[in-house]
Amino acid sequence: MQITRAVPDDAADLTRIAQAAKRHWGYPDEWITRWAPTLTVTPEFITAHPTVVARMEADAIGFAALTGLGRQLRLEHLWVLPEFMGRGIGRGLFQEIARVGRAAGWSSVQVISDPHAEGFYLRLGARRVGEQISDLEGHRRALPVLLVNLPPAG
Ligand SMILES: CC(C)(COP(=O)(O)OP(=O)(O)OC[C@H]1O[C@@H](n2cnc3c(N)ncnc32)[C@H](O)[C@@H]1OP(=O)(O)O)[C@@H](O)C(=O)NCCC(=O)NCCS
Repeated sequence: MQITRAVPDDAADLTRIAQAAKRHWGYPDEWITRWAPTLTVTPEFITAHPTVVARMEADAIGFAALTGLGRQLRLEHLWVLPEFMGRGIGRGLFQEIARVGRAAGWSSVQVISDPHAEGFYLRLGARRVGEQISDLEGHRRALPVLLVNLPPAG
């Protein structure tokens, strides 16, 4: 497994990974359709935002991306293909994107997490700083808002 910077040509693969990973939690198809804009990665997004991709052989199997470089740094994407979950790839992607954030001068990164993924971020040292409440077709959703410190390297 190798983690490198993504290139614009990766966009379709990264979109496929995000959708497959989100489906893994068992959400209804209508919700996945409704979330499609946030689960779509365009070539322009990759050009404009730090994005790293994990590859096995030549195939993309997971990725992570940052946004908000001018304001509060945010982890916008972190997805691993379901068949590759549980092998340390999410941790490796987070560590690499954290290194990029640190190198850009940031001391923390915010994550608005899927509730199922909160335990993963807590394991990586995140702390919960709030909740984002939303309503989806009558279902109240409380998304954990997390902050992860990015201590200086070395
Ligand atoms: C969440 C996700 C990125 C984790 O990636 P992964 O490659 O499976 O995770 P890793 O194998 O690197 O796990 C690192 C550690 O976190 C733990 N962990 C992983 N997923 C977890 C979860 N959902 N809840 C609690 N702990 C979890 C692992 O047990 C491991 O613990 P260890 O320190 O004892 O080894 C991945 O499951 C995923 O893509 N999920 C679906 C999409 C999603 O919700 N992404 C987050 C968007 S905010």
